[in-house]
Amino acid sequence: MGFAMSRTILITGGAGYIGSHTAVALLEQGYSVVIVDNLCNSSPQAVKRIAELGRNEVAFIQADVADHEALSKVFDEYPIEAVIHFAGLKAVGESVEQPLMYYRTNLGTTMTLLEVMAEHEVWDLVFSSSATVYGDPEVLPIPEGAPTGPTNPYGRAKLMVEDICRDLAASDPRWRIALLRYFNPVGAHPSGDIGEDPTGPPNNLVPFVMQAAVGRRDKISVFGDDYNTPDGTGVRDYIHVIDLALGHLAALSHISEGCREFNLGTGTGASVLEIISATERISGNKLNYEIVGRRAGDIATSLADPTRANTELEWRADRAMETMLQDAWHWQSKNPNGFTD
Ligand code: UD1
Repeated sequence: MGFAMSRTILITGGAGYIGSHTAVALLEQGYSVVIVDNLCNSSPQAVKRIAELGRNEVAFIQADVADHEALSKVFDEYPIEAVIHFAGLKAVGESVEQPLMYYRTNLGTTMTLLEVMAEHEVWDLVFSSSATVYGDPEVLPIPEGAPTGPTNPYGRAKLMVEDICRDLAASDPRWRIALLRYFNPVGAHPSGDIGEDPTGPPNNLVPFVMQAAVGRRDKISVFGDDYNTPDGTGVRDYIHVIDLALGHLAALSHISEGCREFNLGTGTGASVLEIISATERISGNKLNYEIVGRRAGDIATSLADPTRANTELEWRADRAMETMLQDAWHWQSKNPNGFTD
């Protein structure tokens, strides 16, 4: 069957925002895809749409990655050659309120996954890390060699998982691990059929702005206009989720012995006010916004130096800001209530 013919990749958290786009990209490139997701923050609809967009079957197992027995069974059943690990909790504020839940979940799932991989002699891993490991950067744009210093439990758990991976790779030369440090993923598949679907009010800027543009939110709060940036609002390195997904494919094909960190970003930034005005133009809707105080833990500017990924992974994020917001708007306007429609 199909699963024996092509490389089979396990995607943990494959029903989520970045996982679903990566799954489609893998299917389009002829990979076989197995998704393990407990759906604690995602929808079974997403899995259906992945298969439709990728024009291929997807093996989907609803299970917790921390469940050793369930995960082992997946490895027994499918000829998995590599794993892309997205499964985890991702809300910064929630991680401050419930640190134990974050450490238990994000470290526990990863350790179970690594144990089961070793038991089944699968050594290739691509891990979903984050630029949040850099904390408040001293140098811009940020190279991978910059000091790390995350400022919240979510970010510290990401860095701890990275440390576990580095220790593991140092202990056994069979491991081949890529740690992908994402900058700010936005946008959606150009079909508008999959996209970011946060439960509750979005914490992140672009989903919030899109919900305001579609009429689900009255007003956008701009967290501070007194930063040392061109217009005083925060500047981020937004990256199209399709470019990000393709970064995982590039990491899989260029993976090599040991453990290596890669920034996935564009190297250019946009401010909060630029995002709001571009979204007004694209959606044709006027947006209400109000300048409020800074959000605790926010930094002025975050920008990737993506040189290492450009050269070693032969990958580049080239989709423009305009495309990111158009695709985000397409998804939001086609699915005003996300996957619950
Ligand atoms: C946030 C997280 C980061 C995480 C990333 C995931 C914090 C402090 N950081 O990054 O750890 O990896 O999401 O994508 O939560 N903004 C507003 N109004 C809003 C929302 C955001 O003005 O309603 C501003 C922020 O101050 C910031 C920019 O928009 O300047 C982007 O914010 P956001 O989308 O939350 O991303 P980050 O804070 O960069």
